[in-house]
Amino acid sequence: MEIRKVCVIGGGAMGRQIALNTAIYPFEVTVFDANPACLEDLAAWEKNYLAGRIAKGRMTEEQVAGIKARLTICDTLEAALKDVDLVIEAIVEREDIKRSVLKQVSDLVRPDTLITTNSSRMVASLFKNDVANPSRLANLHYFNPALVMKLVEVVKGEHCSQETANTLMEFCKATGKTPILLNREVDGFVVNRILQAINDEARWLVQEGYCSYEDVDIACENGLSHPMGPFRLNDLTGIDVTLNVMDRRYEMFGEKPIGYDMIKSMVEEGRLGKKVGRGFYDYTK
Ligand SMILES: NC(=O)c1ccc[n+]([C@@H]2O[C@H](COP(=O)([O-])OP(=O)(O)OC[C@H]3O[C@@H](n4cnc5c(N)ncnc54)[C@H](O)[C@@H]3O)[C@@H](O)[C@H]2O)c1
Repeated sequence: MEIRKVCVIGGGAMGRQIALNTAIYPFEVTVFDANPACLEDLAAWEKNYLAGRIAKGRMTEEQVAGIKARLTICDTLEAALKDVDLVIEAIVEREDIKRSVLKQVSDLVRPDTLITTNSSRMVASLFKNDVANPSRLANLHYFNPALVMKLVEVVKGEHCSQETANTLMEFCKATGKTPILLNREVDGFVVNRILQAINDEARWLVQEGYCSYEDVDIACENGLSHPMGPFRLNDLTGIDVTLNVMDRRYEMFGEKPIGYDMIKSMVEEGRLGKKVGRGFYDYTK
């Protein structure tokens, strides 16, 4: 099937960048967010971003006019879903809220409109009973910042048809992305699983006293050419976010994840990472 018009639900950090990237390539795009303040902020952000592209000579006035004409910010879900071929849900990471939104989406779109979720961890099959014709339901997992990061993970659960997966792969390529296809659902998909393995190993080395976190970062940056070691990266993504993920793993598997006590005590001390000036490293100096 051919994708012409796309609806992005959620205009936060991910949704706005996915929407703008899609409009750049150039698809017709609508965006909806339940929070009107977010939509206002999105409009200002988009204007600012595009003006910056012109100022830097990366886009012409004409290109920007085209992008603006293709991207419509909608204040109702009904308006945003009108005549769309693909829906990308990028709302808050809450299963109950996603379920309710995906149910509404299923009622409002054509039976062949593809429905995807950008969830970081929830597999699409969790919602297969909420969507009529789940063969069109899949994960489309972008990375942050979605305008810059090339990778998109397309996840084809058992309920999802090969045609849906193929169409999504083609759509990603058409929007300048480098997609990969997971033929089966797995918690964390590819990148977050690999990242988790690295993080677990890094924390174990520090927890057991084999070396300092600074030296683990030096090792990964200089021995593996990672742009940032795992602890520095963790400061950037937020220590509190890591604790949330660890709590979920603890709950699911009943076993304390490696380095759990270290991360928990950092959160208790308010060392949440770069956003507050202190995490593993001190950013106040
Ligand atoms: N931030 C990341 O690094 C990242 C990376 C990949 C995937 N994701 C996933 O993308 C999704 C969005 O994450 P984000 O970082 O953009 O979050 P965010 O908090 O920046 O944005 C979420 C938006 O969802 C909106 N929202 C909440 N309930 C809604 C509803 N019922 N209808 C419409 N809009 C609603 C909120 O108003 C908010 O603007 C999550 O599932 C997250 O796991 C995030």
